[in-house]
Amino acid sequence: MTAMDTPLLEASDVSVRYRIRGRSRRGSRYLTALDGVSLSWRAGETLALVGESGSGKSTLGRVLLGLIAPTGGTVRYGTQPLTGAVRRRLSREVQLIFQDPYQSLNPRSTVGAQVLAGLQIHRIGAPGVERTAIGLAALSAAGLNPPEVFWHRYPHQLSGGERQRVVIAGAMALGPTALVCDEPVSALDVSVRAQVLNVLADLRAERGLSLLFITHDVSLARQMSNRIIVLYRGRIVEEGPTATVLADPQHDYTKRLLAAVPTVPAR
Ligand SMILES: Nc1ncnc2c1ncn2[C@@H]1O[C@H](COP(=O)(O)OP(=O)(O)O)[C@@H](O)[C@H]1O
Ligand SMILES: [Mg+2]
Repeated sequence: MTAMDTPLLEASDVSVRYRIRGRSRRGSRYLTALDGVSLSWRAGETLALVGESGSGKSTLGRVLLGLIAPTGGTVRYGTQPLTGAVRRRLSREVQLIFQDPYQSLNPRSTVGAQVLAGLQIHRIGAPGVERTAIGLAALSAAGLNPPEVFWHRYPHQLSGGERQRVVIAGAMALGPTALVCDEPVSALDVSVRAQVLNVLADLRAERGLSLLFITHDVSLARQMSNRIIVLYRGRIVEEGPTATVLADPQHDYTKRLLAAVPTVPAR
């Protein structure tokens, strides 16, 4: 068995129902966000999860990370179900990056303080000089140079692209083996998207990270993944190597997603 065959995270027949406001005559109302989803994200793999808004992508990302419990089915990290101890390890080893860096950053705290707080929570490095060095190196790796300058800034003193780099740096400081990126550039100006994507691609290549790239944008999936999973109304409708799926989509929904993408001339 090679590293590529080892499952990093696996979902088996996972369903998630959200309880929603309002009551029907028979009691609470529910919305089925995921319905019998099974997938395997293999170690070292760059996997894209694609689907329109509301298809259940973020829910699936959060279930895989143990942030919400599935209503049915199981998630395994490697071979282990997500018990408390496994979840704690998972919360350090697999980092989540959201669409909106403001969701992840505290407006009242400097970049340095936030990076240090993450290291402290996960008890990485010795307090003081060692943690600061880890944090500065992470800022630098995320393209925030010189890192000492960014260390003392507050989120509002940064551009959108810089804020997302800070989030990436905070995640990378923890030494993860994998990243789940949930629409990581959707809130950014088109002009800075490519830069942030490059940072992610470079980190992935340099550190051999596994990447789960969640997006509604098929052109980003094309750019950022080797394998693609298409989610439609909480179900997987198609999956396979990115090039194959996008060259010859089998499902109507995938065809429609592709049709919504302006064609970019080959480079
Ligand atoms: N906390 C929640 N409570 C109720 N419904 C939710 C909640 N989170 C998401 N949903 C609903 O679940 C469905 C899937 O949402 P989501 O996973 O966010 O999809 P996506 O990320 O693909 O846009 C949507 O219909 C959404 O409105
Ligand atoms: Mg989402």
